[in-house]
Amino acid sequence: MTITNRKGGVGKTTTVVNLAAAWQATGRRVLVLDLDAQGHASWGLGRKAVSRQEASIHRLFREEAAEGPMIVASRLPGLDLVPAERSFEERHSMVKRDLLAQWIRQVASKSAYEVVLIDTPPVLGTLMINALHAADMVLVPFVPHFLGLDGVQQLVRLADYLRSSAEETQQQGRLLLLPVMVDKRLKQHREVIDAVLNQFGRERVLLPGIRNNIRIAEAFGYAQSVLEYAPESSGAEDYRNLVNQLQAAGPAHEQGV
Ligand SMILES: Nc1ncnc2c1ncn2[C@@H]1O[C@H](COP(=O)(O)OP(=O)(O)OP(=O)(O)O)[C@@H](O)[C@H]1O
Ligand SMILES: [Mg+2]
Repeated sequence: MTITNRKGGVGKTTTVVNLAAAWQATGRRVLVLDLDAQGHASWGLGRKAVSRQEASIHRLFREEAAEGPMIVASRLPGLDLVPAERSFEERHSMVKRDLLAQWIRQVASKSAYEVVLIDTPPVLGTLMINALHAADMVLVPFVPHFLGLDGVQQLVRLADYLRSSAEETQQQGRLLLLPVMVDKRLKQHREVIDAVLNQFGRERVLLPGIRNNIRIAEAFGYAQSVLEYAPESSGAEDYRNLVNQLQAAGPAHEQGV
């Protein structure tokens, strides 16, 4: 599953880290790929982004790299990670869109990961395109507060792009929208969620979403998931519920790649 949005600061990385921990808590074997060179998902799972010499996920996109990426363990048993490379910059000449999908297929044939979560940078470049192509499911977190009409339109364009690229590769990529940092008391939040429901239909929007919860932001500061830092918080509850919702929909790999 790829967690992406073309907007920055909308809770992509937070969702990767906490969803990974919530899945791990159900006994699943989980792999997180930190495709964003900011390295925040690596940080949130207690590992640092690595330097150019080490085996980051970004190595896949360096033609000169002799070795492939290396999987490392997180603090949580059964939750592994391939860290980001801090110095990585995308070049326009990078055109291959299936490098990541191929690597994941290789890894999946060797290891028993049941869930693979990919964090992306907030730009539509080679990395994001690879992440979209590798995913059986695309989760788009959005903040209903500042999303506004423009943000809804950006989601529509992303959905159109996914649909056209899915046709090309014979895939049926599923797009699900997740409201995050939700505050139901705010009229604007209710209005934007209604607008998104109208646009995309109920089956594509994961309601009620993730509430605004200070414990989520605090946990990240301590390089922990909110499930470890504040297991009784609404944030932990919301991410546990999200896993239940996704499981009720069936295992990701059975939903048609
Ligand atoms: N449900 C929530 N409640 C409160 N704060 C949240 C919640 N979700 C995310 N945040 C906070 O919002 C900020 C942005 O989140 P995050 O870094 O996950 O966004 P992002 O989309 O990955 O950003 P970028 O585009 O820079 O990669 C962080 O400070 C995070 O702690
Ligand atoms: Mg991020």
